[in-house]
Amino acid sequence: MAEALIGGLLRVGHPATHVTVSEPQAARRQLLAERYAVRLSEDNVAAVQDADLVLLAVKPQQLRGVLQEIAAALPAACTVISIAAGVASASLQAWSAGHPHIVRVMPNTAALVGAGMSVLYSEADELHQQRAEYLLNACGQSTRVTDESLMHVVTALSGSGPAYFFLLAELMQAAGVKLGLDASLASTLVGQTALGAGKMLVESGRDAESLRHQVTSPGGTTQAALDMMYEMGFPAAVREGVVAAKKRSEEMS
Ligand SMILES: NC(=O)c1ccc[n+]([C@@H]2O[C@H](COP(=O)([O-])OP(=O)(O)OC[C@H]3O[C@@H](n4cnc5c(N)ncnc54)[C@H](OP(=O)(O)O)[C@@H]3O)[C@@H](O)[C@H]2O)c1
Repeated sequence: MAEALIGGLLRVGHPATHVTVSEPQAARRQLLAERYAVRLSEDNVAAVQDADLVLLAVKPQQLRGVLQEIAAALPAACTVISIAAGVASASLQAWSAGHPHIVRVMPNTAALVGAGMSVLYSEADELHQQRAEYLLNACGQSTRVTDESLMHVVTALSGSGPAYFFLLAELMQAAGVKLGLDASLASTLVGQTALGAGKMLVESGRDAESLRHQVTSPGGTTQAALDMMYEMGFPAAVREGVVAAKKRSEEMS
């Protein structure tokens, strides 16, 4: 995720020399230096000392240790962004010894290709939320929620959501192959279909249901597929999958 966000920042023209990455492994530091020409550090405390914005992109279980390590070194005016799944802003505040400018974010993996969806929750001043948006919008779109408990639903929808679409693509490809297409052609057909459907959802100004009706002629092929999918329990599987993800997010936090 950190790489996705670094890539986005550089794509929108942010100078690489203004980005410092703190990374424990020498081999990874070397790779990041070659790939992005950013400044590298092996010392988290040194890396944050002059920062305007600190992005925490470690695994949720590593976050407490990292925040406690850098807490005393955080500049008073810097914005601290956490993208860790399931870590509440109250925990972030406690571990950072009460740092006031904290923004909790749920991004998704599509940030890697500049099409991410990030959702922010923060009680910090507008300036700090805008700084976070500057970073996140470099890799796609962002929006805010004002009720932190909604972050569980957000995680279940846009955070984990790319995997649901990947599963659908995987299953469609496998069905195509079983019915006689070669794997590469099936993959191209499904990938471009997913891209087209996604663009229509985002750009047409129409909702998913009306787009579905538009391509479903009564008695036609699409209707036959959808009838079978309903009969096999597809809607319930999706609905319950999202509920399970939300529940897991609640448990993790
Ligand atoms: N992946 C997603 O789709 C996604 C979506 C939404 C949110 N998130 C959140 O994004 C965060 C990062 O996820 P990820 O998938 O990008 O994980 P990741 O690939 O494991 O990246 C974590 C990075 O943190 C580094 N690190 C570990 N310990 C550190 C320390 N003490 N100080 C400084 N750096 C340290 C790791 O370095 P080494 O590898 O060298 O140990 C690694 O480069 C997680 O909190 C996750 O919940 C991820």
